[in-house]
Amino acid sequence: MTSLSRSSLRLRSVMRVPVARTITTTPHLRAAAKPFFTEEPAAPKLATAIPGPKNKAATAELDKVFDVRSINMLTDYSKSIGNYIADLDGNVLLDVYAQIASIPVGYNNPHLTNVAKSPEMVTSLINRPALGNFPSADWAQILKTGILKVAPKGLDQVFTAMAGSDANETAYKAAFMYYRQRQRGGPEKEFTEEELQSTMTNQSPGSPQLSIMSFKSAFHGRLFGSLSTTRSKPIHKLDIPAFDWPQAPFPSLKYPLEEHAQENAQEEQRCLQETERLIKEWHNPVAAVVVEPIQSEGGDNHASPAFFRGLREITKRHNVLFIVDEVQTGVGATGKFWAHDHWNLETPPDMVTFSKKAQTAGYYYGNPALRPNKPYRQFNTWMGDPARALIFRGIIEEIERLNLVEHTAKTGDYLFAGLERLSQKYPEHLQNLRGKGQGTFIAWDTPKRDEFLAKAKGVGVNIGGSGVSAVRLRPMLIFQQHHADILLESIEKIIKQL
Ligand SMILES: Cc1ncc(COP(=O)(O)O)c(C=O)c1O
Repeated sequence: MTSLSRSSLRLRSVMRVPVARTITTTPHLRAAAKPFFTEEPAAPKLATAIPGPKNKAATAELDKVFDVRSINMLTDYSKSIGNYIADLDGNVLLDVYAQIASIPVGYNNPHLTNVAKSPEMVTSLINRPALGNFPSADWAQILKTGILKVAPKGLDQVFTAMAGSDANETAYKAAFMYYRQRQRGGPEKEFTEEELQSTMTNQSPGSPQLSIMSFKSAFHGRLFGSLSTTRSKPIHKLDIPAFDWPQAPFPSLKYPLEEHAQENAQEEQRCLQETERLIKEWHNPVAAVVVEPIQSEGGDNHASPAFFRGLREITKRHNVLFIVDEVQTGVGATGKFWAHDHWNLETPPDMVTFSKKAQTAGYYYGNPALRPNKPYRQFNTWMGDPARALIFRGIIEEIERLNLVEHTAKTGDYLFAGLERLSQKYPEHLQNLRGKGQGTFIAWDTPKRDEFLAKAKGVGVNIGGSGVSAVRLRPMLIFQQHHADILLESIEKIIKQL
């Protein structure tokens, strides 16, 4: 921000006379835009310093009844549109954080609005079924035309859940039941009396000491079971009892990848060897390995397709299930519908978990033996939500109509090229740029990360971080080249203020 604009902002806040300021962007770039959302503003608008007086007052009001310490921005969803998020003071920001990577096709998307108004949706909302007991007659149809229409290759069944952590935990449970069922000799084998008795006191063999292996800096959620596989930050885990489960090292790669191919391959080999050693030696047998295609909350850490193929081979060799957590990477953001589509696996993962941009959650699987041998072993009241499944179907229709996965791959390439230029110009502020060829799933490290994020709103963009030093871009699938231009200009403006 120039000293002039900074002083005019200060003056405005003193005078309490908000004057809306449209952020200027390079005109020839703006002219090229054919927005998916015709109602979207052409550029961010700043009306006050952020947070403005109305946002401050509303936050104080909320604080009386709700913990506000994690609030990023109190939002006016009725005024948010497409890629733009609005606050109560008339500020409208380009949103490349998108509700922690969970909005796929834009705020107030007209197609989703129509889905929301449909009689099918009204029925689903006001008559929420206990899906395991009373699914509606059209549940199979809703699944086939929605969630299962985009099922990862080789996986044709789904267990629906309510959030990412829930999806992972139910997948872990399926893995444990499958493991013990194999040990017992098949689904028809009855539980022993000893198993039935011991599980009631949380003891083996009914409650066996099995484990799920995850990776250093992984994030798989915050519920009890998933938390034991989360290794990103202590603050998530403190005070909560954890399972005695192993963590393997995740490759620590050097960027740009093409300049460090040999060292990176060695690093990945080291991690694979250690993974295999842990599977063989860990005192609580490993039933499944869970991995994110790109470690997201942990700092946007990447590994190559070869690493993941190696992981798949190791899990096969040791009869350990391979769970791919696509909660953050899934539904198009990496330029493929599922990030693991980038890997060319010979055999599909055993389970793929999803949530966020799907707006519903669950895990896909293919092997029928992953269904527990008896009903009610994998069960809860709602087991997902048909209303949310209908929204995902609407999202899929929008993705298909606008060809948004391919679109995101192209926009990501364009954005990445722009960021490469900025990283050459400002190497101290834009380090370890990563996510090339991964759609808009892009990140970099910067020594003044928190300051960078805090200043972003002042230039009209909402950006998130991950890990300790990464700025992560998680725009929606409707993010276009003209948005990328605005973002690139904004990033440069922020850097100049640091
Ligand atoms: C990879 C991954 N797995 C699981 C989760 C947990 O999802 P939820 O917060 O919906 O429980 C997240 C959330 O950020 C995630 O990024």
